[in-house]
Amino acid sequence: MLPDSWKRLTHISSEVSLETSAPANIALIKYWGKKGHQLPANPSLSLTLKDCLTHSSFLFRPSDSLQVKLYLDKVEKPTFAQKIKNYLESLQNELPIFKSLDLTIHSHNTFPHSSGIASSASSQAALGEALVRFLALQTSTDFDPMLASHLSRLASGSACRSIYKGFVSWGETREFNESSDLYALNINTHVHPSLHYLRDAICIVSSGEKEVSSRAGHSQMNNHPFLSARIVQAETNYKSILKALNEGEWQRVGEIMESEALTLHAMMMTSNPGYILLAPKSLDVIRLVQTFRREAGVLVYFTIDAGPNIHLIYRDEDQQKVETFIKHELSPVLENVIWDRMDFD
Ligand code: DP6
Repeated sequence: MLPDSWKRLTHISSEVSLETSAPANIALIKYWGKKGHQLPANPSLSLTLKDCLTHSSFLFRPSDSLQVKLYLDKVEKPTFAQKIKNYLESLQNELPIFKSLDLTIHSHNTFPHSSGIASSASSQAALGEALVRFLALQTSTDFDPMLASHLSRLASGSACRSIYKGFVSWGETREFNESSDLYALNINTHVHPSLHYLRDAICIVSSGEKEVSSRAGHSQMNNHPFLSARIVQAETNYKSILKALNEGEWQRVGEIMESEALTLHAMMMTSNPGYILLAPKSLDVIRLVQTFRREAGVLVYFTIDAGPNIHLIYRDEDQQKVETFIKHELSPVLENVIWDRMDFD
């Protein structure tokens, strides 16, 4: 789907510098398992956060071969640079310009590096956007977010959703004719206005390194005994959550979201070999949230990524009550809380 004019580019004559920023996103319907090359086994649906961002500056210079350097908060990170180099190499057949490029990246995350929040979606979306801006500049064409989503996906699947604000869907579904496995789609107009400004309190129970990477987790889905049932379940949940989002049925949205989070971790536990990314304190938080919801009647729901930390998602109107609950009841089990929300504008 890349423009032919990009494929004809072979080198740059002068250096180009540009800056991009991209947010993190949290999936309500989880992308877990791949088919083909970086294509999702099932459609996913996420909300894009406002304040958890990666800011990156890029310097593209002519070179005889591909060179990549990456600095995170001014500290050189050769392992991250190598990953980006591998990614650009994988694009060289289609985009030969990446054969003769010296790329230096300086990145900064607005959320703490050790917060346990995956920075791959925001950092790889910032990269995808930068590459599209760079290639558009070379060919005097306009920036196309669909292409940025496509290139971000090839770097990290969930990153393709971070190109858009608000509610975002990725993966081919019957619900949207324009949907694709290749790039994400903004679906804000399908969501009831009462759900436009959801909040996310990210409860950090552990900020350590993950034992199993998402990439390894996805590949374990290939021979997972529950793979086909999971795909059917994800498609059903996707359809149901879309209807609930459209009708403003927050309780229904929350119930599906929690079921997706628990399924994600159930898939990990029942992989071969099985593994557990939740910590004892993750379960404490889940139990306390369930009790608070039952007793106080506040509709706050949890979701979890591939790690131990718990995202509490709730409506704007409940901010005060949820804040008091977190401060009084969850603080003893938390390392930190990151307060974020959706961005529509
Ligand atoms: C659990 O996007 O990190 O966060 O495509 O291999 O880079 P790669 O995987 P990644 O997987 C994220 C999985 C998830 C669920 C989700 O965000 O949908």
